[in-house]
Amino acid sequence: MVTSDHVKDAPAKPAEEPYRYTYLMKTWSIEKSPPLQPFTHVDASSRALNYANPRTFLDSANVVEMMPAFRSEVQRLNLAELDGEGKDQLALNVACNGVIVLHNQQDFINWGLKFYTEWGRYFGPLHAHPLAGHPEGYPDIHLVYKDANSHFNTMDSITTTVWHSDCSFKLQPAGITAFWLLSQPKTGRDMLYTTQVLNLQSLSPTMANFLCTLKAMHTAVNSMCSKCSGMVRQEPIETVHPVECHTRLQVRKLYLLLNFFYDHVAMSTDHQVRIKWEPMSVVVWVRGTTAHTATSDYAHLKAHRHGARISAQAERPILALDGLKMDD
Ligand SMILES: [Fe+2]
Repeated sequence: MVTSDHVKDAPAKPAEEPYRYTYLMKTWSIEKSPPLQPFTHVDASSRALNYANPRTFLDSANVVEMMPAFRSEVQRLNLAELDGEGKDQLALNVACNGVIVLHNQQDFINWGLKFYTEWGRYFGPLHAHPLAGHPEGYPDIHLVYKDANSHFNTMDSITTTVWHSDCSFKLQPAGITAFWLLSQPKTGRDMLYTTQVLNLQSLSPTMANFLCTLKAMHTAVNSMCSKCSGMVRQEPIETVHPVECHTRLQVRKLYLLLNFFYDHVAMSTDHQVRIKWEPMSVVVWVRGTTAHTATSDYAHLKAHRHGARISAQAERPILALDGLKMDD
């Protein structure tokens, strides 16, 4: 029988701790972004090519191969403490493997806004997403946020899978990108990545050569209206990574042929990896040689999901075919 004494003696329910990442809540700037400034990009990975051993940053780490095309899932490496040489090696590793997952990154995640921007700037000028919300005063940090009251756009299509490469319309789009979660559901919203290097290499030589002769229009006019200037550009459908020297595939609009490529990217599971989020994990990828999609599969959980991303701009895509002209 429960008496009033029992009730009095019952252990108090612990008070819920205040959410520690409130300083990373979304705000939106109303100012128009300044015009993009061209710059000469020096890829950090190119410096690592000159090191006697460009893998020393992994010396004390435990590295698990996720799959042959995406090799690295890393434990026991403190991303926040990598020095310049370590960051160069990280950039080379990601350039070669497409994506790397680093677990237990409490320091990186908790050192905060100023640290995030300094870390990202090592790899190049920071990339500001034209639409995403950002922390107050830090427009270069891209935030994602959902909670029990959020709206999920899951009814417009038979699937939430949307393979893409972020902001490819920029003259010098993002290169290396890091993304981490501050709060997450128990399960769901996995990220899938595909390697565009293998997607291209698996085509017949005839088809690959044909691709070199094509151009694609990269545009965000429909989705972004007038938030940033210079939103539309044309570029060859294939470009060459300056370090990796693999030709890669970037497609947007070629109707029937384009649908073939979309299907090829979506259905080639032998070129893909699915990453399940763990608390305090950071995923780092190279935008230009990969495509990704998230899975909006957790709306019914009414869960809190909060994440942050930082990207550094990279080179202007390089023509795959001599004689092909880049259109502005
Ligand atoms: Fe994306």
